Amino acid sequence: MSDTLLVTGASGHLGRRVIHHLLQTLKVPAGRIIATTRKPETLADLAALGVVVRQADFDDSASLAQAFEGAQCLLLVSTDALDRPGRRLEQHQAAVAAAVKAGVKHVVYTSMPQPEPGSPIPFAPDHFGTEQALAASALTWTVLRNCWYMENLQMNLPQVLAGGHWYTAAGEGKIAHISRDDCAHAAALALASAATDKVTYNLTGAAAYSTAEIAALASDVFGKPIAVVQVSPEALAQGMTAAGVSPIFVPLLVAFDVNTAAGNVSAVSGDFTKLTGRAPRALRDFLVENRAAFL
Ligand SMILES: NC(=O)c1ccc[n+]([C@@H]2O[C@H](COP(=O)([O-])OP(=O)(O)OC[C@H]3O[C@@H](n4cnc5c(N)ncnc54)[C@H](OP(=O)(O)O)[C@@H]3O)[C@@H](O)[C@H]2O)c1
Repeated sequence: MSDTLLVTGASGHLGRRVIHHLLQTLKVPAGRIIATTRKPETLADLAALGVVVRQADFDDSASLAQAFEGAQCLLLVSTDALDRPGRRLEQHQAAVAAAVKAGVKHVVYTSMPQPEPGSPIPFAPDHFGTEQALAASALTWTVLRNCWYMENLQMNLPQVLAGGHWYTAAGEGKIAHISRDDCAHAAALALASAATDKVTYNLTGAAAYSTAEIAALASDVFGKPIAVVQVSPEALAQGMTAAGVSPIFVPLLVAFDVNTAAGNVSAVSGDFTKLTGRAPRALRDFLVENRAAFL
């Protein structure tokens, strides 16, 4: 196993943890890892360890030929460019095309659960389109359909804990949250495994919980009561707007609940354990370990 492994978006939360797992968990020599980012100066610590750091911006196709040169396996970390519908798909398509041109053999991609047409999630077409671009390419690939990160709960659970109420339009729908670090571990393994096939893994936690079940868990862990209030998607949007949530985010946040209510993120898969040989982090453990971030 002597392929050169490339990780895009290496300064992001996920990208950094993937590099960590390549170096520390899988003991891949630093010189066999290429870390690309729009801001190479932010990866000086990795360069000091011997990781090859290069500049790459999916908005700048010209930067990608040099950046991807010499890599056999590439982890394409989906970007956070959600400002214009379709922009992110264009970025990912540019990255796939550049990978083919550079002679990359295998691409690992971070997708989402059930991104097929009809998903209520506004950015699902970016992921589905990228999966389609890989399928249409000459590459072999591993698609990692990462369920929602446990870290996402840090966006609303602190306010819920402070106010005591959780307004939701998710009904009895469940989410099989997985920690971002587990996604990073699985991505590192998929990248380093010298895969030569075309495979999709659904990465989820070991259990799925409804909003009421997450609230009960959080109440127990943090010792604070939470009343779950089920509302319609329209009422949730109105409440968020009245609470000052940016109009840009309201439709996205409501869509997450509609998607959950539809059961699109509830399936529990054994793929994480199949890839890593261990159980994924449990939600209770995540809440306990990150107590300070929630209170
Ligand atoms: N499953 C979930 O619940 C969930 C939650 C949040 C996000 N996500 C997705 O997973 C990805 C990784 O998550 P994260 O937590 O690491 O997010 P993050 O810290 O916000 O990272 C954003 C990533 O996008 C990259 N990026 C942005 N613009 C780019 C461009 N023009 N060209 C190349 N790369 C670009 C960044 O790379 P550099 O800054 O190094 O260039 C960085 O790796 C996100 O970008 C998003 O697509 C999933």
